[in-house]
Amino acid sequence: LNKGGFNPAPDTDYGRESNLVKARQALTIVNNQLGKTYLPLINGEYVETDEYIHSVNPSTPSQIVGKIGLISLSQADQAMETAKEAFKTWSKTSATQRAEILRRAADIMEQKRHELTAWMCFEVGKILKEGDPEVSEAIDFCRYYASEMERLEQGYNYDVAGENDRYFYQPKGIALIISPWNFPFAIATGMTVAALVAGNCALLKPAATSTVIGAKIAEILTEAGIPKGVFQYIPGKGSVVGDYLVKHPDIHLIAFTGSREVGCKIYADAAILQPKQKHLKKVIAEMGGKNAIIIDESADLDQGVAGVVQSAFGFSGQKCSACSRVIVLNTVYDAFVERLTEAVKSLNVGDAKNPSTKIGPVIDASAQARILQYIEKGKEQGTLAIQVEAPEQGYFVPPTVFTDVTEDAVIAQEEIFGPVLAVIKANSFDHALAIANGTDYALTGGLYSRTPAHIDRAYKEFEVGNLYINRGITGAIVARQPFGGFKLSGVGSKAGGPDYLLQFLEPRVVTENI
Ligand code: NAD
Ligand code: ALA
Repeated sequence: LNKGGFNPAPDTDYGRESNLVKARQALTIVNNQLGKTYLPLINGEYVETDEYIHSVNPSTPSQIVGKIGLISLSQADQAMETAKEAFKTWSKTSATQRAEILRRAADIMEQKRHELTAWMCFEVGKILKEGDPEVSEAIDFCRYYASEMERLEQGYNYDVAGENDRYFYQPKGIALIISPWNFPFAIATGMTVAALVAGNCALLKPAATSTVIGAKIAEILTEAGIPKGVFQYIPGKGSVVGDYLVKHPDIHLIAFTGSREVGCKIYADAAILQPKQKHLKKVIAEMGGKNAIIIDESADLDQGVAGVVQSAFGFSGQKCSACSRVIVLNTVYDAFVERLTEAVKSLNVGDAKNPSTKIGPVIDASAQARILQYIEKGKEQGTLAIQVEAPEQGYFVPPTVFTDVTEDAVIAQEEIFGPVLAVIKANSFDHALAIANGTDYALTGGLYSRTPAHIDRAYKEFEVGNLYINRGITGAIVARQPFGGFKLSGVGSKAGGPDYLLQFLEPRVVTENI
């Protein structure tokens, strides 16, 4: 077995008063900066735009977090031309030089950790304990991919007598990064720095609801010394600018994380050869999940309840890794449901920046309406076991648990992306595994069990990219739990793992007869 030597950045210990003071100060600092204007960064300059949107605080939607300039299609073309020009020199820099910029960016993120967490609290409604690990993850992506690129730059040497055979990597070209709002800092940073350290030029198009955090990434990379044109920050409408650039003949690589609907469209669009296009595009598409945790008859129920509650309701269930189905063996079903409902009762829903809040808002009004519709559907298809109270003002959704849900019910099959949990009864471990595997997705999964034979079977038969035994199923750590799924959860190698950078590189072989 390979043993990794990477040390992840530690999260903030909020049990220490000094850290709480820093966190509160950061919230105040960020609060005083709300409402500023953020412009796209093209060719090293912040450029004016014709169109603007407001990014608002989902806990208090009347509060404008930032006003963001959206690029036009002609500005997209400009960014593309600039990137192509910058690629000529950036592609020839050494991995060490590029890695240095990532390491500097990581150090800046560490210095700004509390403020970055505060920005996520205001812009996407993450409580501090959920935002802080995201800063750690972004730091880890920078440091890990920096070391990975230095490793890969060595290439391979297959020389034989009379012949040199060298295997090495070169960058692909221009990378389009399309990121989601739910891990607005870590995922956008991870995809971007992977492209950059591999020697590609990157265009970052963040999700509309997390564009201010995207602007923070641009500020950090600029401060870290990324040359102009190598990285460009291009906020714009996904269906307009995103769509246009996906189809652009000069894009070599698209790194996307987001919904299945958009991911499948990008995958299809990118496959069409455009006039003057001289290559096929590489698409990395990390998409959704309908993740299950199995509780068998030997499980420690207290541990299981705690893991399920955290995995299902953390960040209001808005994680691709979130648990939205819990499959419980019939012998422990009643006992589990009783303890689960007790635990859910104690979840405090409110403004993300309040220290007592466990569950913040959902991202926006349309997410709120969509999740509430699923809750209505759930009332037809299961038993409403518990629904916690949530504030009326702001984009809040009450954490909700349905029991007696059948495996084929809508709420047991579709990604809801909200604080809604379906409890499903299984009559055997075989049945539980079949239910767990019975969706289109294969992202995360979990098993609570003290039965070695069940654990062994789950290793082999539970069809997910990331399986967790006797712990929660969210919060993967770089180089410890490289992250990503298969089936309709995605196509690509695991983020934060040893194969990830290979997707951003073109392998070549040169044979020299000597
Ligand atoms: P989304 O698909 O709505 O948007 C993602 C990005 O795609 C945004 O930047 C958006 O502007 C852009 N976009 C939208 N339409 C486009 C188009 N036609 N062409 C090009 N770009 C377009 O997803 P979201 O709501 O931001 O994120 C939530 C989804 O992301 C969930 O399904 C979640 O499971 C998934 N997700 C997956 C992972 C993973 O690692 N597998 C991680 C986080 C989130
Ligand atoms: N990497 C994120 C998690 O594991 C999505 O929760």
